[in-house]
Order: sequence, then structure tokens, then C-alpha cells
Amino acid sequence: MLLLRRMNKEGSPPHGIRFPSTHSSHAKLSCVLAPFVTILVLASNGCWLFLFFPHHLSPSIESPTDALREASPDLYAGACQLWRGEWVPDQGPSPYTKTCPYLGASENCLQNGRSDTGYLHWRWKPADCELSRFDAGRFLTLLRTKKLMLIGDSLARNQMQALVCTLAQVEDPIHAHDEFREQTWRFSSYDFTVTFIFSPFLVNYTVEASNDTIAGQTDLYKLHLDIPEWRWVRQLAAYDVAIISTGYWYHRRCLYYVSNSLIGGNSNSGLSSKIIKSHAALGITLRSALKYITTKFEGITMLRTVTVDHFENGEWFAGGSCNQTGPYLSGDGVVPPVPWMNQMINRIQTKEFDRARASMQDPMKLHLLNVTYSMHLRPDGHPGRYRIMTPDSPSNDCLHWCEPGPVDLWNQFVLHTLEHIL
Ligand SMILES: *[C@@H]1O[C@H](CO)[C@@H](O)[C@H](O)[C@H]1NC(C)=O
Ligand SMILES: *[C@@H]1O[C@H](CO)[C@@H](O)[C@H](O)[C@H]1NC(C)=O
Ligand SMILES: *[C@@H]1O[C@H](CO)[C@@H](O)[C@H](O)[C@H]1NC(C)=O
Ligand SMILES: *[C@@H]1O[C@H](CO)[C@@H](O)[C@H](O)[C@H]1NC(C)=O
Repeated sequence: MLLLRRMNKEGSPPHGIRFPSTHSSHAKLSCVLAPFVTILVLASNGCWLFLFFPHHLSPSIESPTDALREASPDLYAGACQLWRGEWVPDQGPSPYTKTCPYLGASENCLQNGRSDTGYLHWRWKPADCELSRFDAGRFLTLLRTKKLMLIGDSLARNQMQALVCTLAQVEDPIHAHDEFREQTWRFSSYDFTVTFIFSPFLVNYTVEASNDTIAGQTDLYKLHLDIPEWRWVRQLAAYDVAIISTGYWYHRRCLYYVSNSLIGGNSNSGLSSKIIKSHAALGITLRSALKYITTKFEGITMLRTVTVDHFENGEWFAGGSCNQTGPYLSGDGVVPPVPWMNQMINRIQTKEFDRARASMQDPMKLHLLNVTYSMHLRPDGHPGRYRIMTPDSPSNDCLHWCEPGPVDLWNQFVLHTLEHIL
């Protein structure tokens, strides 16, 4: 009841969350901010597209997770479905403060003037178990002499920054490599390395400036859906843990190639036929990436699922904002369902995860960081207007996550998972 009142007082009712319906020319910062726009305007049914693919890329319907769980309960011993649960009030300290020098400038909400701090005082309570607080010393000890790679877009960067700041409470890292597309941090007394690889599509791609502008974008991306990107592939063998993710970039202007042949493009690609839905292309990518990983990589892999953005009262480029100050709470009847597009992408990710896992000799080497639902519940966790402004940026960032903030949960999931297998 207390919580219900809190919502009503401080947050507007959780209605009005909708996907943008068209692009604008803000495409720069928007790298990732170009949300699920494209998909909504796609007319054709994506199913036919699989007819064009080699057999190993064709979709599967079955979802072996439950069967696997029944057949091999030991695989899941000690584990619970972390993603099911709710946010509960918590007065514990944040894992790090705004003074951490490794935070993303745009995600350092407190530094950028956010004064409602209620969003910091929640913890995730899984329905079936307790999730312990992130213990940086425990993490570093567990991963002593190991190397972890985060692969993905700026949301993966978001997670990396949160992780580095959390671990920096124990030891100041050395910033061993510092480029936009690749960053490496070393925690020398544990001989532990974290690397972030910016690989927004997970697969090889080139980008061209085209002469025409479609949906506000001139850059045209040519994606090789069957070729995991060289940036991470070339060094993966030296790592012990890989966390992969992808999503939002698939809604930019994209042409798709398989076996070096054009198979189609999304609705913004400029093609007049062979329109392939973005999430279908994303499914093919995941299958290629997971196939590569499950056959070539000896280490542990985690697939982080899609997140949810929370633009309200307008699209991200049209004055949309996110001013909520508390999570959606279960039990008070106001939790909206996960938006259908995120749910659909989550389903594709789960399906490809299941398929890959079923093909592995040691399924304990592949795990799902199913963050979609927990992040859906946190409309209050984004920088919103407390971000660093650039000329091209929308005035609100309702996609990335404040640091500290709900994004820290992802690293709790990582630690919890590793504790059960290392
Ligand atoms: C992927 O891209 C890199 C860099 O352009 C290139 O060197 C490599 O050959 C490509 N991989 C394949 C399999 O084509
Ligand atoms: C784009 O414009 C340039 C200069 O006008 C022209 O040379 C080029 O062929 C055009 N490219 C395409 C793909 O139309
Ligand atoms: C959020 O705050 C901004 C600035 O105060 C305001 O313009 C906007 O209407 C608010 N949005 C919502 C959804 O309340
Ligand atoms: C992941 O979470 C979604 C809810 O967002 C749920 O529908 C799905 O079943 C979960 N996947 C797995 C494998 O547990």
C-alpha cells in the first residue's frame, strides 16, 4: 500500500509508453537511440525470408529449455530463474559513487544533476531465491587470472562501466587500452582483465554514406549476417568469459548479406523488395554468433537479452521523456506488459540460446542473462534529461541506464551465474 501510494504520488501512471513511428535526423547520438522504429512500419511477414537460407540458418520452433531442465536437473542445481521477480525497497549503499572516474559521462546521472535519488534504493528480489549483493572482492577472487570480454553496443559499454566502477572499490584498475571501439582494464593484483569490444551488430559490416536520406538516416550499413565480427573473433580465444548482446542497431538502415550475397534489407534500406524484418535478421546473426562460439570458444558465454526503453509522451527524437521516479511494482495492478517488440526479440534470443545450448557437449558453458523483464520494470532508471547534451542528441536519454542504477543488476546476474559454475 505504501509502495502503491509512492507510485501514484511520484510517478505518472505507466501508460503511454509507445514505440516511435518514424525516424528523424538525430541519428548520430542515437546510434543506439534509434529504437524499435523500423519494425513497426514493416509490412511484410518475415517468415518467407527463411526460404532463402542455408539449412543451418533456418529457424526452429521448439524451445528445449524446459526439456533440458527436466532431463538434467543437475544442470540447474542451485540455480533459480533469476529473471522472474520484483524490485523491493533497499536502503543499502550503492556499489560505487558518482566520483568513480570510469563512469560514462552521460550515464553519471548524479553528477549531471539528477536530484531524485529514490531510484538508487531498490534491489532485485528473484521470485524463487535470494540474489546476493555484488561482492567485488568475491568477483575478483573468483576470476583471478581470468579475462572477461563484453561484446555489443553502447548498452554493453554501459554494463562495462558499471562493472569497472564496482570492482574499482577493491582495486584501482589500469586502463590498458582506450579506444572508442575497444577498451581494456586490468586489475593487476588479481591478474584479471575486462575488455569491451564495440560490435553493435556482432557481425562484420561496412558502412556507406548514401546519397539519399531515408527516415532521417544517410548511413547505410551492409551486414554479413553469417560472419561473426573480426573485432571480437580475433581475440576471443584468449578469454575465459564472453558476454554478448545486440539489438538496437538492427533498426538502422541495413542491407543483409549471407555468403556474400545480398538477401535483403530492412524497410529503411531503400530496397523495394526483399524486405526482411530487423528482428529476423537479428535471429540469423545470433545463430551465426552462437554457432561460432559453441564450436570454437572454450570459455563460458553469456547472452544478455534485449533491454527496454521508456520514452513517454513522444518519440525519442520528438521530445519524448522519462520522468518516473520509481519502478513498476507488482502487486498493485499497474505493471504494464513487456512491450511486444522487446518480448519478440527476447523470444528470438531465448530460442537461439536454447538451440545453441542443446547442441553443446557442455551446456554449462552457455548462459542467458535474461534482463528484459527486470529492466522493463525500471522506467525510473534512465538518465532522462540528466545526460550530457550534444548538438545531435535528443534531450532525453530513456534508453541507457544511470550508473549507479538498475544496470548494476546485470553484473549481479553475472556473478551469481559464475558462482555456480566456476
Ligand atoms: C571481416 O571483416 C574484416 C575486416 O574488414 C576482414 O578482414 C575479414 O576478412 C572479414 N571476414 C570474413 C570472413 O570475410
Ligand atoms: C552519389 O553522388 C555522387 C556525386 O553526385 C555520385 O558520384 C555517386 O555515383 C552517387 N552514388 C550513388 C550510389 O548514387
Ligand atoms: C518530464 O519533464 C520535462 C521537463 O520538466 C517535461 O517537459 C515533460 O513534460 C515531462 N514528461 C512527463 C512524461 O512527465
Ligand atoms: C526471459 O524473460 C522473458 C520475460 O521478459 C520470458 O518471457 C522468457 O521466458 C525468459 N526466458 C527464459 C529462457 O527463461
